[in-house]
Amino acid sequence: MNPTFFDVNESSRTMSFTIEILPALSNNYTFLLSDPDLGLATVIDPSDGPQVATALKKRDLYLALILNTHHHPDHTGGNEFLQQEFGAPVIGPLEEKNLIPGISRGVTRNDIITFSTLRGQVLPTHGHTDGHISFYFPQIKALFSGDVLFPLGCGRLIEGNSAQMWESLILIRNLPDDTLIYASHELAEENVSFALSVDKKNFELQKRAATLLAQRKAGKPSVPMILGDEKRFNPFLRPDNADFRKVLATAGIAPEDADPAAVFGLLRSAKDHFGQNGL
Ligand SMILES: [Fe+2]
Repeated sequence: MNPTFFDVNESSRTMSFTIEILPALSNNYTFLLSDPDLGLATVIDPSDGPQVATALKKRDLYLALILNTHHHPDHTGGNEFLQQEFGAPVIGPLEEKNLIPGISRGVTRNDIITFSTLRGQVLPTHGHTDGHISFYFPQIKALFSGDVLFPLGCGRLIEGNSAQMWESLILIRNLPDDTLIYASHELAEENVSFALSVDKKNFELQKRAATLLAQRKAGKPSVPMILGDEKRFNPFLRPDNADFRKVLATAGIAPEDADPAAVFGLLRSAKDHFGQNGL
């Protein structure tokens, strides 16, 4: 898919800040968080430097900061180009400092980053990679979560283990329901298929799946997700839900008496073998 640019709907406009979505590569999303009054922007997980530079120029914005959630090239590929163009510092996970091109500052649990009047908290959300982090901006109710949580899905365990990922998901689940989750890939369709295959008789889930698929059919991204929706419907946030554990036991995915981290691991493994190549 060629990189294209479009505005997200007005519900993403909060305070005087704007968050825009830039689709990139095959199914990545890069995010531009901007303060139009100051004419400044932060980019999160830039895949394609020239694409971001063009978007900034179009909006008359200057790049103040580059944020990376983890070291994978589809999240960091634009770092060096943008750094050369704008001189912007790159902030990324401390644990992956050696793997991130152009990194200026490594951050970890409880560190704070600032952009304009916003204070962003660094959440350790390991599992997809060993040092993966998410950026939480409570003032605008936004979480930039990289490859941890997707609509009805979660990231693949590439470097970390299921216990780490389950801990990361609980951390995110503890945020307020009205938090908007800016996930770095479009994976709604495949996650819908898997979630429905597991929890076939869940009428509420079927309704949620239909909404997501209609959104995609209309050419709209499935992000940002509302965390409250994910808490209710995302199977990977529900391994400690008694009703859902019964469903998983009946489906032969996980024994009902296994501990939640183990249930999560078995569910994640079932997704890995579901016959799709995505995250
Ligand atoms: Fe990744």
